[in-house]
Amino acid sequence: MDTFIYLDNNATTPLGTHARQAMMEGLSEWGNPSSAHRLGRKARELMEKARDSVATALGAKPTEVIFTSGGSEANGLALMGSYFSKGDHFRLLTSSVEHSSVRDLTRWLEGRGVEVRALPTNRQGTLDLGVLEEQLKNFRPHLVSVMAANNETGVIYPIPEIAARCHAAGALLHTDAVQALGKLPASHWQAADMVSVSAHKIRGPKGVGVLVLKGDPGLFPTHFGGSQETKRRGGTENTPGIIGFAAACDAEIPSAETLAQVETLRDRMERLLAEQDPEIEIIAKNTPRLGNTSCLRVVGIPSEILLGILDMQGIAVSAGSACSSGSISPSPVLLAMGLTREEAKECLRVSLGPSSTAEEVDTFVKVVISHIHRIRSRKRS
Ligand SMILES: Cc1ncc(COP(=O)(O)O)c(C=O)c1O
Repeated sequence: MDTFIYLDNNATTPLGTHARQAMMEGLSEWGNPSSAHRLGRKARELMEKARDSVATALGAKPTEVIFTSGGSEANGLALMGSYFSKGDHFRLLTSSVEHSSVRDLTRWLEGRGVEVRALPTNRQGTLDLGVLEEQLKNFRPHLVSVMAANNETGVIYPIPEIAARCHAAGALLHTDAVQALGKLPASHWQAADMVSVSAHKIRGPKGVGVLVLKGDPGLFPTHFGGSQETKRRGGTENTPGIIGFAAACDAEIPSAETLAQVETLRDRMERLLAEQDPEIEIIAKNTPRLGNTSCLRVVGIPSEILLGILDMQGIAVSAGSACSSGSISPSPVLLAMGLTREEAKECLRVSLGPSSTAEEVDTFVKVVISHIHRIRSRKRS
């Protein structure tokens, strides 16, 4: 296959050259960072240097950085650690559009009798801050968990405003900033008490993430057995991965200028699509969104059909639906925003990256539009 156009950067990103090189060095320093001898001390030195870089990118202090195995574990540590510390009286307020690592955990907590409420969103993906205030007053949650930006629609949630309201009501705020890192400035999530991020969304390695933990909210660890990460997360640290994450933080976070170029490309793609097919709906179009993300609903055509065709043509995008046990189920996020099951199954997610080009976007538009028109004309005949 000649072409390969990768427009699925919210799923993962290619490993950057800086991260790859740093990881090779990290693999050579194979000591256990908890060992007292020189090999261990060298590994620890590299890891602490990496912690400084990651902390700088996150706008946090190095002592606030807890390394984890990724964004899912960071979310789990924030929510489960809070539940373990508060016990069965724990009250959790979240949103209806969280990533599955939060959503599935909240269901499990509910099954154990924990009181969980989810803030609704409208079709534009926005949360009503008045409803948040009401819930803070009446439900009095210990913890609020609202993502900084949504992975499927790109909708950005106003974390500074949410944090101010949570703190005024005496609640802590956790935010899943996995999609925000590298796409929004640190000031967007800094007011939260706990912040989850993941290395592989910014050209770092898979299997490494961070939970930023501010102050001492009495979080219980979810992994025991060692005093790593100042007893907040047991287990020998993934030093090559951590070093790779730091290199990605130092070298791969796009400048504001690059982010603006990506957004211009995304907007051009949406404009071209709308011009050529009036039956393409751009989900949450008028809501503040990540500049790289587009959630497209192609009316009347299930996304898995287009996904398969595009894949055969060498174009990688993703569907707003998940395939489990051979059946396509619509995305819970899109359903929570008020789309019907049929509408949600018609959504494709296109996520650009800093290296996406105008030629790639134009090829995607040309290919997708030609297949949409072909499928529509066949349906009509
Ligand atoms: C918003 C969001 N949160 C959490 C995660 C999970 O991160 P990880 O793959 O590092 O476990 C993802 C990954 O897609 C995500 O998009």
